[in-house]
Formats: sequence, C-alpha cells, structure tokens
Amino acid sequence: MKFPHFAKTPVFLMATALAGSGVLAQAAAPADLKFASAAESKAEYERVVVPFFAKHCNDCHNQKELEGDLDLAVLEFDMKASTSGARWATLVDLLTKGEMPPKKRTRPMPESVAAVIRWANAEAKRANRHFTRREAYANGNKVPHESLFNPKDIPPFAADPQIRRISPEIYAAFVAEMKAKSRLGQPFSPSGRTTFKDMGTPKVDEPVTAQLLQNALSIVESRTAHKLEGDKVVGNLTKEFSALFHPVTPPSEPQIEAAIVHQFNQILRRTPTDAEKTRFVALMKKNIADAGQTVGVRYTLATVLMLPEAIFRMEVGSGTPDAKGRIRLAPREIAFALAFALTDKRPDAALLTAAAAGELDTDAGVAKQVQRLLDDPKTEKTRVLRFFREYFGYDKATDVFKEANGGGSAVDHPGHEPRALVEDTDRLVQLILEQDKDVLKELLTTTKSFVAYKTAADSKKKIAEAKAKFEADRQKDPAKFKDKLFKPQQKLIYESYGLTDFPDVQPVELPADQRAGILTQPSWLVANSTTFDNHAIHRGKWIRERLLGNVVPDIPITVDAQLPIAPEKTLRTRMAVTQEAYCWKCHQLMNDLAYPFEQFDHFGRYRAAEIVQDLEATALNVDGKGKPKGPVMKGAPLDISGLIAHVGDKSLEGPIKNPIDYMKKLAGSKRVEQVFVRHAFRFWVARNEAPGDAASLQATHKAYSESGGSMKALITALLTSESFLYRIAAK
Ligand code: HEC
Ligand code: HEC
Repeated sequence: MKFPHFAKTPVFLMATALAGSGVLAQAAAPADLKFASAAESKAEYERVVVPFFAKHCNDCHNQKELEGDLDLAVLEFDMKASTSGARWATLVDLLTKGEMPPKKRTRPMPESVAAVIRWANAEAKRANRHFTRREAYANGNKVPHESLFNPKDIPPFAADPQIRRISPEIYAAFVAEMKAKSRLGQPFSPSGRTTFKDMGTPKVDEPVTAQLLQNALSIVESRTAHKLEGDKVVGNLTKEFSALFHPVTPPSEPQIEAAIVHQFNQILRRTPTDAEKTRFVALMKKNIADAGQTVGVRYTLATVLMLPEAIFRMEVGSGTPDAKGRIRLAPREIAFALAFALTDKRPDAALLTAAAAGELDTDAGVAKQVQRLLDDPKTEKTRVLRFFREYFGYDKATDVFKEANGGGSAVDHPGHEPRALVEDTDRLVQLILEQDKDVLKELLTTTKSFVAYKTAADSKKKIAEAKAKFEADRQKDPAKFKDKLFKPQQKLIYESYGLTDFPDVQPVELPADQRAGILTQPSWLVANSTTFDNHAIHRGKWIRERLLGNVVPDIPITVDAQLPIAPEKTLRTRMAVTQEAYCWKCHQLMNDLAYPFEQFDHFGRYRAAEIVQDLEATALNVDGKGKPKGPVMKGAPLDISGLIAHVGDKSLEGPIKNPIDYMKKLAGSKRVEQVFVRHAFRFWVARNEAPGDAASLQATHKAYSESGGSMKALITALLTSESFLYRIAAK
C-alpha cells in the first residue's frame, strides 16, 4: 500500500514536535586574532563564523536536521564552556580536511574556511584549549587520568542536555514487540567513529526517515489487519482499532480519541496530553477526508511512530535548577534511561509505575530499580554483555579472514572456528558476571575457559560414532582400509585452546602457565590478528588505550604502514622498521606492550616457536630438474619479553617476562581498574568523560572496589551518579 500524497506529513510533524520541545534552545550571540576577552572573540565569531555557517552548514546542522547530532546554533562560541571545546575540535578537524560540508556540496571559498579556522584557533588559545584530533568524541583518554581521580580537587559538574537516537538494537526489539507481519528493514546503523557503538553522533537523515516511515506503515498495517464480513470488522485487532474500520459508520470523535490514546500507550508508553489528543484527532479526521477511511486511519496511527519520542532518547532534564545549577532528568526520562542502560527494551510496568509515583526522584529510588532489574532473572541484560564485547572487542574475531588450511604451511589450523571462539568468551564473561566478584581481575587472569561449549558434546558424539563405524568397516575389509587413518568431519575447535579433545565438563581449566584471561583467549588474539600473522600493533594499542588509559596519536596519513615482507623473519624482527625515531615516538607506546603475546600464534594457539621460512633449506628443496618444490619452514626461537612504560604510573612500569605475569600485574593495578571504570562510563553515559565527571567516576570506582569488584555495584553506582541523572540547564 502506498501513501504518496502524505509523504511529508510525519516528517513535518516530527520536525515541528522537535522544534516545539524547547529542548534545543537558541544560544548563539553578538572584533584581531588574539582575543583579550570573550566579548572580543564573540564579535569576530559573529562577523566571520556565523555567516559562514549560515551559507554552508546550517541547513544540515540545525534544530530540525541535527546531522551528526550537531545544531550549530547551540554550539557555544566560548570554548571554555563545558563540552563545546571537543565539538569545535572535531569541527576544525573536518573543516581542515575538507570533509565538511560533505563532498557533494558547493565548496566554500578557501579564504572563508581559513578565516573560520583562524578564529577557532585564536579562541582556543584564549580558552587555553589545544586542538588536536584527540579531543574529538572518539577519545576520552585525552582528559588526564590524574585529574579525574584526585579526590582533593573535584571540578564542578558540567553536562549538557542530551538527545540521542535509539540504537539499532532498541529499534529491533521494538519492532519485534510490534509483531509486524512483513520483514522490516533496519533504518539505523551504529556510529563508526567511537569506542562504543551506541555513542557519538549517529544520523537520522532522509534515507533513515524514509525507512522509518515505511516500517511505521507496515507495523500499523499488521496491527490493524482485518476482513469485512457484512458490516463486521473481523480480525485480530483491538476494539479501539476495530471501531475505526467500520464499513458503514465512520468513527466518531470519541472513538478516534480512544484509538489515539491506545496507540500512544502502545508506542510511547504514555497517554497523550490534551493538546496532543486534539491535534491527532484533527489529523485523523483530515486524513480520512483526504485519503479515505482505511488509508487516513492507518496513516495517522503511523504518525505516532514517527514522533521524536519514538526515535530519540530524551535526556534533557526538567524542573528548576538546584544550588549547583543542575536539573535532574524527568522521571520518565530516567525510566527510559535505566531500561536502555540494561536492556534493549522500553521500561517495564514496574519502572513506569515507580516513575509516576515519584520514586525515581531520589537516588535511593533509582538504585532500588537498578537492583531490581539486575537481579530479575527474567530481564535479559543484553547491554551488560554488549559492554564487555565492545570493550574487549573479542567479537571482531569473526571479521578476520584466515586461510585455515590454505597454504599447507606449518601454522595451518583447520579447526579454526571464530564464531565458536566468540561464543566461548561470551560464556566466560557471563560466568564471571554470575559470580560478580573481582570481575575485572577475573576477566584478566582466569585460567578457566569454555571450549566450543555449544557444540562440544554433539561433536564428540558424532566423532565417536563415525570412528566406530570406520573401525567396523575396517574389520570387514582390512585390505581396503590398509593405510587409511580416521579423519573426523568436525572442526577440532579444542586445538585453538591447546587441548587434545573436546572436554566433557565446561568450563575447563587451561594450564596456568599458558593462559590468563580474555587477552589470552583465542577470540581476542584472533580479533587482533591478520590473515597470516599476529597484529602486535593493534594489541599494544588496545592495552595502551583500554587498560592503561593513555593516548596514542593517530597514524599519520603520510606513513606507508606496512611491515617488510620477509617470511624468513619473525614478526618482531620485521617490526624493527617502526624503531626509526620518527615512528618510534608513537610505536614505543604500542609495540612493547604486545610482544608477550607472541607466545601465541595468529589462531590463538600457544606455541613454543615461531614458524618462519628456512631460506637455505628452501633453496635446496628442488626436484630432479632443479625446479623449486616450495618453501621449507623451521621454528625460530620466540622473544616474548615486553615493557610497560610511559604510563604515568610507576607502580605499573617495568619489563614483562611473559603474558601470565603481565596479566597479573595489570589485574592488580588500581589505575587499570579506574581506566576500566572510565570505559564503563563512556558506554553507559554515552559520551566521553570530562573533568566535571570526576565526582561520578570516583564514586563509581569506590563502589566497585569496596564491593570486592562487583559489576552490579559498579553499574548501580554509575546509573545513580550525577553524570547519569543530571544536566546543567541551558542558560
Ligand atoms: C548536506 C548536509 C551537511 C552539510 C551541508 C554539512 N554537514 Fe556536517 N555533517 C553532516 C552529516 C550527515 C554528519 C554526520 C556524519 C559524519 O559525521 O560524517 C555531519 C557531521 C558533522 C560534524 C561531526 C559532529 C560530531 O561531533 O561528530 C561536524 C563538526 C560537522 N558536521 C560540521 C559541519 C560544518 C562546519 C559544516 C559547514 C562547513 C557542515 N558540517 C555542513 C551533514 C552535513
Ligand atoms: C603519530 C603516530 C605514529 C607515527 C609517527 C607512526 N605510526 Fe605507525 N601506527 C600508528 C597507529 C596509531 C597505528 C595503529 C593504527 C590502527 O589502529 O590500525 C599504526 C599502525 C602501523 C602499522 C600497522 C598497520 C596495520 O594496520 O596493519 C604499521 C606497519 C606502522 N604503523 C608502521 C609505521 C612506520 C614504519 C612508521 C614510521 C615511518 C610509523 N608507523 C609512524 C601511529 C603512528
């Protein structure tokens, strides 16, 4: 069914509703290039920047379009302001690279771009900000660790009201709940430039809106599907909807209103306000008059699914500011924020009831709800496991292409099954979360592992049966089976873990001198590998950023980032090219942190030597006519020594002998624990931490450490923190 003549309606409504929400208040205000005061800077800003934005940018970055979640009209010129500095840094970066406006648009004059950048640099100087790409959203580590965890100097809280798009997962759960009959396209894709997927600036542009609209119509069509038998409406639809389709009697105003109320409750989990009732009743009447009863009714119901509330997460706060200038999120905002923090589903009845009863007005009330959800076995905490997946990134193992038995070389591994490796680590994370004790430490040091836990029993049984059959056949016809060996069809996934068979009991204990925690799980090692080798640089970068909390400068585009091709050399030897002074200033931050993992091959198997080509033997490996018969390999001794340095925490720094001692050292570090908390903050508060979040971060770390490493305690503290529950009201 097509609705051509209404094609603009919901988009229009959506835009007006957003504009009317009062959320996106106007801010921008009213001349050399060193500014002695904010007023001077502001004057130049108005002279140069404002007209530039108006000409080249505002049609995509305004209250309505909000591309990249950016409304230029509310971006404060004053870079001393809480969060605008990071935004300006991204903006200058994109302008400098010519990425904004997008390529398809008319190019601005270089002089005018230069003038904007000149102003931005002068303002940055005045505000004592330093522009580097690091200040962009993708990197929270830019804020010095010490400034966040110093209990003696806690900067004032600052956090802007936030409007976020719902995640692809939330949308999928919503659609599933709506039980649409046809398959619906996913309108959203996760944002790419950030550490965690549901953070940053995902867009709601025209293609997204078009898909949302199409889905909204399909959902409504499914939910109002019916047949007419005589003058009866027959079908699996509610009485509120059924009344709308009566073939003889058009719906009365009270019937329309009842249907609108029903639709609001279903889609938005609330009743419409009087103003909304009036607006939607009028809209349905008009649509029926314009397009006929069936189309008019369905289109109006679909419009409810296009309201900003159904697409965006409002976390803006309400009420009057307290003594610190903070406003608390509205109870309903808190209910949604809590539900989406832990699950992909909208708040359950108990949460909405608590919100309505005023229970979410106190932190204790919020904590009670968080604990209820965490303890309720029926509530699937999808977001908690997702945090660990995105933080460790082991699920990327499935993205790395391997020729498991392609080249016939000594490192082949036909048992390689990345999906199973990821499932095993998922299960391990869950086990550690169930125990909820020393969670991070366990994740970094456990010797336990699941081994193809979903399929092991089945594989084992099938292999035994096939082997029995093979033996029986051999008995019958020994001659035919003379030189044949039994070869199972199943993938011998256990070889990834260094075992010789599928285990009978899960989890298994792996040898304590071989494995310690997630970073020694094959999934993580494979996720940080290439088709043919370990990826030491990625491993080191991961540890530097996610455990040590330092900043690694981005790889310059001028660098030809390739290691020499030399199959006779070990990876570590080939990485010597990065020791040139220019390269080393960055690579000293990564390489040495990764060498201990040379203990494993690129399938994640523990090894005693690295397999390299034996050049001499290969040269001699010729047939009778002198034709090469192919490479001959040999084992080269491993060098797994590493070094922790340049951290800014002497207790961590020093040489590392092997991956096991390494993991124990990291797991015992307070800093590592705090860096973990910083990442949890980013995931759950959905933005990078800023100095004003110090109080929330410290409270969260304290709760974690005093509870003996309970993730539940960490999450509860985070979700009751000032950073989660409050915003600073726009002035
Ligand atoms: C045709 C629409 C369009 C125009 C015109 C446009 N942008 Fe964008 N902008 C986008 C979209 C879409 C995104 C989000 C996707 C992305 O980050 O690439 C974006 C993202 C951004 C971001 C990143 C926001 C963040 O924090 O991640 C900045 C900054 C930005 N634009 C600045 C500008 C400036 C400055 C101009 C004018 C010189 C401009 N844009 C013009 C569409 C536009
Ligand atoms: C300003 C910092 C910086 C400098 C200088 C630098 N690199 Fe890098 N390099 C990086 C970062 C960061 C990465 C990881 C990029 C990523 O995440 O994929 C990297 C990755 C690499 C890789 C792996 C690429 C891949 O993904 O497979 C190689 C090889 C490399 N660099 C070599 C060099 C060499 C050689 C030099 C000197 C000529 C050099 N780099 C200079 C920061 C730097």
